[in-house]
Formats: sequence, C-alpha cells, structure tokens
Amino acid sequence: MSEEPVTRPVPARRRDTRLDAYAHNYAERTFGMTASAIRALFAVANRPEVVSLAGGMPNISDLPLDVVSSTLSDLVAERGTQAMQYGAGQGEPMIREQICEVMRLEAIQAHPDDVTVSVGSQQGLDLLTRIFCDPGDVVLCEAPSYVGALGVFRAYQCQVSHVAMDEHGLVPEALTEALAAHAAAGRRVKFLYTIPNFHNPAGVTQTLERRERIIEIAQAAGLLVVEDNPYGLLGFDGDPTPAIRSLDADNVVYLGSFSKTFAPGFRIGWVLAPHAVREKLVLAQESATLCPPVFSQFAISAYLSRHDWRGQIKQFREMYRERRDAMLAGLQTHMPAGTTWTRPTGGFFVWVRLPEGLDAQAMLPRAVSARVAYVPGNSFYADGLGSRHMRLSYCFPTPERIIEGTRRLGEVMAHEASLHETFGFLGSGAAGGPYEAPGANQS
Ligand SMILES: Cc1ncc(COP(=O)(O)O)c(C=O)c1O
Repeated sequence: MSEEPVTRPVPARRRDTRLDAYAHNYAERTFGMTASAIRALFAVANRPEVVSLAGGMPNISDLPLDVVSSTLSDLVAERGTQAMQYGAGQGEPMIREQICEVMRLEAIQAHPDDVTVSVGSQQGLDLLTRIFCDPGDVVLCEAPSYVGALGVFRAYQCQVSHVAMDEHGLVPEALTEALAAHAAAGRRVKFLYTIPNFHNPAGVTQTLERRERIIEIAQAAGLLVVEDNPYGLLGFDGDPTPAIRSLDADNVVYLGSFSKTFAPGFRIGWVLAPHAVREKLVLAQESATLCPPVFSQFAISAYLSRHDWRGQIKQFREMYRERRDAMLAGLQTHMPAGTTWTRPTGGFFVWVRLPEGLDAQAMLPRAVSARVAYVPGNSFYADGLGSRHMRLSYCFPTPERIIEGTRRLGEVMAHEASLHETFGFLGSGAAGGPYEAPGANQS
C-alpha cells in the first residue's frame, strides 16, 4: 500500500513593520507596561554557554513524571468530560478544600468558600489590584519588591511607595512613617503588598514578631495587607513561620500558588480573602476568564489525592538547599572585597550588594559576554533605584554550574572594580534605597 505524501501547510509570512497604525488608540494604562528586564534577558541568558543566575524558574526535574502521567491519563479516562468542561468562576470545590489543607501547614485556618482559584498567584494579584485600585492610588511595597507585582501595579496606574526592609523583613517603623506621610498628604493607601517568606528578590524572611507588629499597625490604620507567599513551604530549616493571615483573618488577603511546590505549567494559584472581598474577586474572575482552567484544577487535585505531595515538597527543599549552599560557597570564594549578600533560609534568591562604584545594570552586558547572567537590582524598584544590587537565583542551575557562575561573575566584578579604581565612577550609581543587604558576609 503506497502512503499518501504528507503536505505541510506553508506558514504565512510574518508581516513585520515598526509602524503602529494604532499608536494613538491605546489606553493610557498601557504606557506603564514595559517588558521586564528579566524577559529581555531571557533570550541571551538561556543560551547553553551562559550560566543563568537570572531566571526564577523552579527546577521541576525531580517531579515524578510517571505519577503525573498516570494521574492525567486516569483523569481523562474517568472524568474527562467534567475536567474539560467550563467550571465555577470561584474554582472547583474539591481543590478549594485541598488548598485549605495545604495552608494549614502555615497555621492558616480557612474555609473553602473563602478561597478563589486563580491563574497562578500572578492573576490573583491582578484581580486584587483590579478590584481595589483606581489610577493614582497608593500601594505600599517592600523595597525591593517582586518585579511581576510592580508590573501589575504599574498597569493599573497605581503609585508604588516603597517601605524599607532589613534582614528581618519589612521594617514596622518605616511602615508607620509611610502611612503617616501619605495620610498627611491626603493620599489613599489601598493596601500593603508584602512577601514575608524567602523574599523575591531579597531572600529574607519576616520574623513572627515583625508579622505581629505589622498586623497591629495595619489594624490601627485600617490598612489591608496582601500577603504573597509562593515560597513559604520551601524553607530549609524547621517548620514554616505562621503566615500573617494566621494572625488576622479579617484584614489580610493571602496569595498562594502551586507553581513552586508542584509545577508552574498548570498555572494554578489561589486567593484567600475575607468574605466580602472574595465576592468581588469572583466577579472579577468571571469577567477575566469565566472560570480558572478546570483541567488544571482537576489535575492538581488528583495529584494531591494520589501522591505524597508533602514528601515531594521535602525532596524539593533538599534539592534547593544544596543549590543555596553552592551559591553561598561560590560567593564566599569568588566575590571581590566590598561585596555583601543575604543568606536565604529557603526559596530561590540571594540579594547581592556590589562594592562601591559598581553598577549592576551597566555591568550586565559585560557579564553576559563572560557567560553569566543575573537580574540588576533596579528591576525591583518602582523608582529606578537599586542598581548597586543584583538578584542571583540558585533554583535552576546545578550546584556545579552555580559555583562556575559565581566564579565568572567574580571575575567580571573584580575587573569592573579595578576600572573604577583607575578611572573613577562607572555607572548611574543609584544606590538602591535604604535596604543594605543586611547580616551580610564581607569577603
Ligand atoms: C513573589 C512572587 N509572587 C507571585 C509569583 C507568581 O507566581 P505564579 O503566578 O506562577 O503562581 C512569583 C513568581 O515567581 C513570585 O516570585
């Protein structure tokens, strides 16, 4: 029997033009939308010869793909028509119950009815900002803060006001001062956005005392606290610190995610919110997506029911701990004098402060030429400060590559430092606010 020749459709030619016929039609909010430095870096940083300490991609190679595969195949065979149908705007009841079980590990007591499933915690952040913020409203954030959150706040035309942090997380006195200053100026602060555990990018964790103090201040000021916690279960030492939400169910909105404890490709996160806020969130979710992805929810729900997910998270923790150790050892060996850095006790990131006169943004092309990539600190500030800092991620490369990456970086920095010594000031030099890589190692 002769086979039919396979004819492949010829893709249409892309019609590229730099002219935008609709340049004058875009909404004002799009002017704040820019590609993040991380995205711009992706193309070069992903070349195999470059050690990328830039991206925050979880290393999911330890996932039991055989379990995932049989779970998905059973799901399609047994409940396929339900799993591939539209679902509830709030998310599926079964997974909302399981989410409450996950949050119990951080001392949160919650009812499934207060949980809204989102497309990653990133969408939770978007929905929250959508329901709370009008253009010009103030959002308080740590300095530095998660680049994806800053992007959302910018897209909704919020005014981001940074609050200082140190090695114990957000500084309560700085929060009090910021609230007083905004009140005096008649500005409305809509919420405080905080990442209490293994902060992205700073790598530090808020102590329980700090969390209690922050809640006291927020209650006194009638301030809503948004607690973003994708890394909380990835701690290297002992039990997780109780979540801020465990201290106050009425004034805290909690964002969670399966991206780092399972896999980001399913795009499932959640928002736990006081009842009235939850109602608004579901309306916003319905208008954004009709419903969060049903198939992904069923898949994660089945995985949680069938697999030892707690054991899996423990395995992830061990793997990330080894990488963190490699990063700290590499920094200790290879960083030039005057460099300091944080010592994360979980999560993915180390925050490095460069010797005086060095500028992480200006140095980046030289680092990439030397086959190592990082994210310059100014990406994590709404006000453009921070270029004396850089974020290094240890989550994805192997320990050997991490050490090699720090060696290459150390060489680039030493060269920059010697140029600085010879010729003086090298870059834009914006130091990066009050956050001074605390408790750090001098090397
Ligand atoms: C602090 C923080 N919040 C939220 C997110 C978004 O995660 P996802 O949308 O995958 O749940 C990330 C991702 O890196 C993050 O670091």
